Amino acid sequence: MRIIHAKDYADMSRKAANIISAQVILKPDCVLGLATGSTPIGAYEQLIKWYEKGDVDFAEVSTYNLDEYRGLGHDDPQSYHYFMNKNFFHGINIDLANTHVPDGANPDADAACAEYDRMVEAAGYPDLQLLGIGNNGHIGFNEPDSVFSKGTHCVDLTESTIQANSRLFESIDDVPRQAYTMGVQTIMRARSILVVANGPKKAQAVYDMCFGPVTPACPASILQLHTNCTVVADEEALALCH
Ligand code: F6R
Repeated sequence: MRIIHAKDYADMSRKAANIISAQVILKPDCVLGLATGSTPIGAYEQLIKWYEKGDVDFAEVSTYNLDEYRGLGHDDPQSYHYFMNKNFFHGINIDLANTHVPDGANPDADAACAEYDRMVEAAGYPDLQLLGIGNNGHIGFNEPDSVFSKGTHCVDLTESTIQANSRLFESIDDVPRQAYTMGVQTIMRARSILVVANGPKKAQAVYDMCFGPVTPACPASILQLHTNCTVVADEEALALCH
């Protein structure tokens, strides 16, 4: 695990965007695994700026997002699909047909998850998987558990995740209780992984991910076993790692 210290959120975002744009420049038809949440927004903004300057070209890139709320269609403003269009895809020249998010509108969880796994496998798995980390160490929506998950599956969100995500909804009752998420095994199949983290609330999870025991009680800890994993985090998130 490579740990890159960033001064603050802006610095973290620029460093992460640099790593993603290097991947796209080195392999223009690469597969990117992408994440939603607050943390990657600054990196997406930076990539849009570099695209506008002509420094990076997404025409041949394809993407697979980690997760989606069950029950939300792609045009629902609270869906992750909508989030990705708004915060990234609409700002770059990616072909929207090459962007993929689990189908939250499909109520048949087994079918939706199996179809997503089939697509990710057919794409050959991501060259670079971008991840945020939950306050409780989750990656994607793989919450602390007694085993590591495998492929895409339907999860019940924990109370702490529902609380954390409620800031983006009008009321906590509007937060969906379930999501479809890539499993830990699928995430580990990416050829390289980039974790971004900022702020004091992530300090314990970042410490556990980098230096704690490898255990499904902190799903991100398995990233210690990945051969090409980079963590870019700001000072606050790295506060316990010194
Ligand atoms: C989002 C995702 C989640 C988030 C995590 C951190 O697609 O898979 O694991 O990365 O919850 O969220 P933020 O960045 O909002 O703190």
